[in-house]
Order: sequence, then C-alpha cells, then structure tokens
Amino acid sequence: MLLVIHAVQCSARLLLYVKLGTMEQLIIRGGRPLQGDVMISGAKNAALPIITASILAPGVHQITNVPELRDVVTMGRLIGNMGGLTGYREGIMTLDTGRLRTPEAPYELVKTMRAAVLVLGPLVARFGKARVSLPGGCAIGGRPIDQHIKGLEKMGAKITLEGGYVIAKAKRLKGARIYFDMPTVTGTENIMMAATLAKGTTLIENAAREPEVKDLIDCLIAMGAKIKGAGESTIEITGVDSLVPMANYAVIPDRIETGTFMAIAGACGGDITIKNCRIDHMDAIIMKLKDAGVRFDETKKGLRVRGPKHLQAGTVTTMPYPGFPTDMQAQFMSLMALARGTSIIHESIFENRFMHVAELCRMGANISIDGGTATVKGVERLTGAPVMATDLRASASLIVAALCAKGESTIQRIYHLDRGYERIDEKLKKLGADIKRVME
Ligand code: EPU
Repeated sequence: MLLVIHAVQCSARLLLYVKLGTMEQLIIRGGRPLQGDVMISGAKNAALPIITASILAPGVHQITNVPELRDVVTMGRLIGNMGGLTGYREGIMTLDTGRLRTPEAPYELVKTMRAAVLVLGPLVARFGKARVSLPGGCAIGGRPIDQHIKGLEKMGAKITLEGGYVIAKAKRLKGARIYFDMPTVTGTENIMMAATLAKGTTLIENAAREPEVKDLIDCLIAMGAKIKGAGESTIEITGVDSLVPMANYAVIPDRIETGTFMAIAGACGGDITIKNCRIDHMDAIIMKLKDAGVRFDETKKGLRVRGPKHLQAGTVTTMPYPGFPTDMQAQFMSLMALARGTSIIHESIFENRFMHVAELCRMGANISIDGGTATVKGVERLTGAPVMATDLRASASLIVAALCAKGESTIQRIYHLDRGYERIDEKLKKLGADIKRVME
C-alpha cells in the first residue's frame, strides 16, 4: 500500500514535470558573480544502473540520494511497465520487483533514454530471456551496444535482432572471460549484473573504472554478490544463486554536476562552496581547472571554488576515467571560450559531441572544429543570444556561457537539461543568478 501511495505521489508531481519540461525554456541575464553554497545531488549515471540492479532480486528495494530527474522517472516507468511498483519521495526511491512479469523494454521508453539498455543484463540473469529495444543513435554519436551483446553471447545467451529489438535467451548464464574492445561504462555494468547470477566466474578485462561503475559494484556486493576488482580494469564476478534486495543504498554524489558548478564558478568569477561532493572523484577536472586559474580550497563546509580575474587557455583530451570525462567537455569549452590564448580540446570518446559549438559561436565564441578537435580562441566577452540545447551536457555548457555573457540569453529545449541536472535553475538562483524558467 505504501508503495502505491508513493507511486501516485510520484506520478502527480514528476509526470507533470516531465510533460511541462518539453515546453520550457530558461532566460538568463548574465554577468553576475555567483556566490554561496550549492548542494550536489546524487549521480544520475550511478542511480540508473542501481535502479536496474533491483531487477536481480525480487522484493522491495530502497535507494537513497536518488536525484529527481527525467531519466530517473523514465527508468521507474520501465520497471513499472514490466509489472513492478515504484515510488519516489525526497530522494528516496522504493521499488518492488517481486511481481515483474514482462522482461521487456519497449522502444517508446528506450528511445528517450539510452541507459534503458541497462535492463538487458539483469533481465536475462533473472528471467532467462529479455526483449529490449535497440537504443539507436543519439545527438552525440552512433553509440552501438555490440560489446554488451558480445559479452552476453560469451556467457551463453542466444541473441537475435528482430524488428529493432535485441532478443536474448539463456537457461542460466555461465561465467566467461570477456575482453572489451574499449572500456564501456554501461557495457561493464550490464555484463557485471548479468554475471552476479551466472553459474561460475566471469572475468571482465578492460572494464570501465568510472566511480559510477564502482558504486554499482558496492551496491551489488551489499545485495550479496561476489565481486573483486572494484575500480580496476579487471573485474571478477563469481555467480551466486540469489541476491537480496537493497536496503537504503545511498547513491554517490554526481561528479559531473560538481564539475559543472566548478566551471560556473570559474567562468563567472564566482565564489561557490560545493557541498556533498566526492573530491576524490574529481582529480582530472580539478587539475584542468587549476591550470586555467581556478582556485580550490577545502573548507569545513565543503570545497570552495573561486574563479580568477583572467582565465588561461588550456589543452584537454577526453578519456575514460580517471581521464578527463567527455561529460565535462562542453562545459570546459565554455570556460575556454573566455580564456586568454588558444585552447585545444580533443574529444576522443564520442564522434559527434560538438553540437554546442555552433550555439557558443552565436554567443560570440571563436571556435573551429576539425574532426574530433576543437580550437578555441579566447574572446574578451560573450554576449547573450537565443540558443538551443541539443543534448544534456551541451545544455550545461550553454548555461555556463549564458551566466557570464553580457545581456540576456534564452535557452530552448531544456528538457535535455532536466534529464540530468536536478533543479539547476533553483540552485543557481540561490547563488545569485538572474535565471527564470518560463513556458516557450
Ligand atoms: N562503444 C561501442 N560499443 C559498445 C559500447 C560502447 O563501440 O558496445 C563505444 C561508444 O560508442 C563510445 C565508447 O565506446 O565511443 C564509450 O561508450 P560507453 O559505452 O562508455 O558509454 P555509455 O555507457 O553509453 C556512459 C554514460 C554517458 C557517458 C559515457 C562515457 C550512462 C548512463 N551514460 O554512456 O553519459 O558520456 O558513459 O563516459 O552511464 C551523460 O550523462 O551525459 C552521458 C552521455
């Protein structure tokens, strides 16, 4: 009953939010130095796989520090669509996966959120079958899932592609040695979850080492899984017969939201204290921002970040963790657009992740692209303009730019932003930004 009540409350508030989100825009008047404290939310990319891990153990699960985001709502709908019950209140997500009966992820949901593919491994592990829509491409590139499929096949699943769906079948998955051609985050997570209930031991080589992967491992271990190598590039999983539901597992803070606020402080000459962040997850970002002149001080309250009078140009190449994250490339570019000198930004993870460049240029930035490399010649100032968000992190880069631009910017299509940043406009307003959310 409690779950049903939760579910109703969730749908009234969040579904309206999802609906309205498609028609909203942000109006920002830039140029104010931002000051004060900001609280970082739970990590989207940790919360999503952890929600799908609930499929592995029938029963009632509770997850805390879950951000209130469109992608979280979509993942909840996916579980609901299979017959589960989900509820959400003030960062606590409750899932009852006891009565899941349809091991399926339909196209209508997968097309709005690529991370939906994370149900594939848990569904095959629990039901011996799954029918999951292929995610297709998205604004940042082709994004195939061949490594996920190859891994499951090595574990004995029979996989066919029919009508845009991946159909996977296996009586019981068996342990295998899997080498990923590249470290894939959701690929590692999918195979790891599948392996927790497989017969025997699975070894994943060249696994992703992102903190979100480690958070999922910690959660799976709390559910009774046997996993060695958290945070390393070889992960060993010994299958068990069953797992127990999670009780109050707390999701780690979002390192990309943290980095975005660091970029905002740096670009706007701000003085922001970031609370609830994991500094140990931020090395590459902090180092690059320090090179640009941003100052960091650990205080009792949190991490104090101050922007310099003049930013310095820099060079960055996006890499798998612990390298500089592709999810911070766009925001870093906005910062470099205002730096003294010429910066070189190389995107090595996704082939089409420069959609923000044209919009930044409309605000006065001087950026040219050659393949996966952007050359950014710093300008004295950006000017406000109407711009269009094209994907989640592109939206964040436009916010960074708009907050320090002269005049007014209108950012359209902010439903992308609401997929991954919890109430960013409210957080920015508290820091002194002149920002409004209005209907388009
Ligand atoms: N790749 C393949 N085949 C595969 C899987 C990946 O070729 O089977 C390639 C991709 O095309 C890409 C590279 O491998 O070139 C790495 O992709 P990865 O699989 O690691 O990306 P992902 O798991 O789909 C997650 C995050 C992304 C983040 C990337 C890289 C989630 C839910 N998503 O995606 O987050 O950019 O890792 O760190 O964890 C975002 O939050 O804005 C976002 C896009």
